[in-house]
Amino acid sequence: MTDIRIRFDGISKWYGSLCVVDNLDLDIAKGQFVSLLGPSGSGKTTLLMMLAGFETPTKGRVLVDGEPVDHLPTYRRDMGVVFQSYALFPHMSVGENIAFPLQMRGVGAAEIGERVARALDMVQLSAMRDRRPSQLSGGQQQRVALARALVFEPRVVLMDEPLGALDKQLREQMQLDIRALHNRLGLTIVFVTHDQSEALTMSDRIAVLNKGKIEQIGTPREIYDEPHTRFVAEFIGETNLAEGTVESVAGAEARIALKRGGHVIAGLSGKVAAGQDVLLSIRPERIELKDGTVATGNSIAARVADCVYQGDHLRVQLDGSAHGFIVRLDRKSREWQPGAEVVAEFRPADCRVIAP
Ligand SMILES: Nc1ncnc2c1ncn2[C@@H]1O[C@H](COP(=O)(O)OP(=O)(O)OP(=O)(O)O)[C@@H](O)[C@H]1O
Ligand SMILES: [Mg+2]
Repeated sequence: MTDIRIRFDGISKWYGSLCVVDNLDLDIAKGQFVSLLGPSGSGKTTLLMMLAGFETPTKGRVLVDGEPVDHLPTYRRDMGVVFQSYALFPHMSVGENIAFPLQMRGVGAAEIGERVARALDMVQLSAMRDRRPSQLSGGQQQRVALARALVFEPRVVLMDEPLGALDKQLREQMQLDIRALHNRLGLTIVFVTHDQSEALTMSDRIAVLNKGKIEQIGTPREIYDEPHTRFVAEFIGETNLAEGTVESVAGAEARIALKRGGHVIAGLSGKVAAGQDVLLSIRPERIELKDGTVATGNSIAARVADCVYQGDHLRVQLDGSAHGFIVRLDRKSREWQPGAEVVAEFRPADCRVIAP
């Protein structure tokens, strides 16, 4: 990777005997939007706090533009930060809160006025410029915090679940707004979330965190289509899992004997060997259903347990003979009756081998 803006170099964080971040390496390129995605307690906030300078690593270094920043206080790191809690100045108005980072940097009054107006417009709070934070809703306060972090166009913006308090509509609008701002200003953004669809929507790359380690890092497409571990497959979107044994390997594909009978060809993300026990991961929307009782090609024979119309799609539950797979069909597909005998088909590339 060229032009690395942020480097976590062997970073660990211990609280007493609890290891919260575990010898973690991560490079973030200039201008990239990287999400840290993981369940509660996986170390996302701790990692962000070490980058911002609010926490000190127990071991390892943080580098920005090639320079270690461990000795630098937060305000000297040129980072805009949006916290999980809003941390606005209660005695200042909305406009004064947003103007504050510009005043700290000696920006002239006329330009401050202009930039604050633009930032207020961006978060749709122009009408509330003179209010105090205590006179705003939680979502409005969070938008002020966002405007305050972005208004001085820092080289790095750190956001910890900044949209958590917003309702769905505003949240989706803000996702697109932040994304547009990132593209327009070329900001490097590190964005913490435990919402997988938010991470998929916004990121250039997603780092999936589990127990203080990066379980996998990649583009949204790589993370979704080629999960390397069961944790990633199950945490990002919904998936079907089946147990099997590798029979043979040819290039980036393997032939797998399923524990419940039958064979399928599946795509490989890592190395496996003949005889090895593996899991298969198949996304519900990558499966097609056909009439029939005999599985030929890449398929499994099964019975329909249930079929539910969900507005934008049909959700079909197969019975135990097909591992209880869930199938997500286009809403215009035919409805399947419970008990119907079907063949569930999928392409080898849509069926991923995961080494347990
Ligand atoms: N100051 C502290 N002292 C002791 N333990 C801490 C401290 N701060 C965090 N932890 C612990 O570190 C672990 C990771 O916390 P962290 O806040 O980084 O998780 P997170 O991934 O941000 O979770 P969430 O999604 O709930 O915000 C948790 O088990 C937490 O209890
Ligand atoms: Mg957190």
